[in-house]
Amino acid sequence: MNHAEAQKMLHRCGQDHVLACWDSLDKAGRKALLGQIASIEPENVARCAAALAAGAQIPDSSKGKAPKVAELKGAKLRAAIAAGEKELDEGRVGVILVAGGQGSRLGFDGPKGCYPIGPITDAPLFYFHARKVLARTVRHGAPVPLYIMTSEANNADTVRCFEEHGYFGLDPDDVFFFVQGMWPGMDKDGKIILDSPGHVFMSPDGHGGLLAALKRSGALADMKKRGIRSLFFFQVDNPLVEVADPAFIGYHVTEKSEYTLKLCEKRDPFEKVGVPMKFGGGYRMVEYTEMTPEQCRRKGAGGKLYFRYGSPAIHVFDREFLEREADKDMPIHLAFKKIPFLGDDGRTVKPQEPNGYKFEKFIFDILPNAKKAAFLAFEQSEEFSPVKNAEGADSPATCKADMQAKWRRWMKAAGIGYAGPVEIDPAYALDAEELKASGICLNAE
Ligand code: UTP
Repeated sequence: MNHAEAQKMLHRCGQDHVLACWDSLDKAGRKALLGQIASIEPENVARCAAALAAGAQIPDSSKGKAPKVAELKGAKLRAAIAAGEKELDEGRVGVILVAGGQGSRLGFDGPKGCYPIGPITDAPLFYFHARKVLARTVRHGAPVPLYIMTSEANNADTVRCFEEHGYFGLDPDDVFFFVQGMWPGMDKDGKIILDSPGHVFMSPDGHGGLLAALKRSGALADMKKRGIRSLFFFQVDNPLVEVADPAFIGYHVTEKSEYTLKLCEKRDPFEKVGVPMKFGGGYRMVEYTEMTPEQCRRKGAGGKLYFRYGSPAIHVFDREFLEREADKDMPIHLAFKKIPFLGDDGRTVKPQEPNGYKFEKFIFDILPNAKKAAFLAFEQSEEFSPVKNAEGADSPATCKADMQAKWRRWMKAAGIGYAGPVEIDPAYALDAEELKASGICLNAE
């Protein structure tokens, strides 16, 4: 894109001010600015401005009903596991890891996936995810390709982390990094914010940016070429997750679902998690901010919460469903944030209060479009302990304690009584049975 093309495009979008500093920029500054402008899609500017003008829309969830959530036991569980293992054995399963977030609450300098979470080894979050994928690959004798979404801000560091650790034992040909989109921030009047002379403030377009990024990067085409049918989706901050577990994959396949969600019981009625609800024949994820206190407290059968289950963002998608959705526009969500901006004196101002909007897409917004959706319950203590905050709840301290508690349960099942620090490489044992079968024993001093 050259200056004239950029000028024309910005003029059409009512954003002429973005080029106001042009004359004061050197050659490199001009090139960088043109690069940023070229990455901005005019339709998205118009959609973001329209979303801003419409204001935050709170959809009515008062008619929502609790979905039917399966709790697999006995023969049903065994059948789901067998179906999932067949998918894995035949190489029809891929894994999507979204790791493009900014991790602002954790405040870690680097990609969140590089955060040292190993209780003994300080191994990064990526280690636990990648070693679980490796364990599945070895166990089922077929590749399980890993698709990792990064952002422009953390892609290079993420790739470096994998390179420095020898891809954690994975075949690099089966690891596919792709970069999500960035959207410009806007002020209250819908004007794109510059945060320094000739530099547009941009932020990742949310985990819903996955669909467009999968298509743009060729990841969707790669999945098709490999004959992948089901995609296990998870977030970078949860090292307890059971990556591509056969029961979940098998349940998804046997239900002929396009979008299957793992759900866990809410820890309290007001827990900040999305709750899927049924509206007529389809489903929609209702954010906790949309629920009334009465809805949150409502009791159902057996005195349990009616909206008992929340979503920790552990999903299985049909590849064909993702392909279908990748071409559609997704709803845009607004977040009012403190955004650095260019002051009148040409310096960057860091505001004390929110002053502008970031725009995001959420992956669960495609739930209503699934021809068939299914829901599977799981035990939170077994599979979900996210690293969100630096301290307190959902922090590295709580997560490390939960990881170790899970491993100690495995050790107990294997007949090993031990209360000290523990860390188990997922490629050594992926579950209690595997640990037991490994014949490990501890020599008490
Ligand atoms: P969160 O909503 O927890 O956001 O992301 P975050 O950016 O990691 O952390 P905060 O809110 O700034 O503290 C949930 C998952 O979605 C991914 C994150 O990497 C994480 O795995 N994500 C989020 C993206 O991949 N891209 C985004 O634009 C946003």
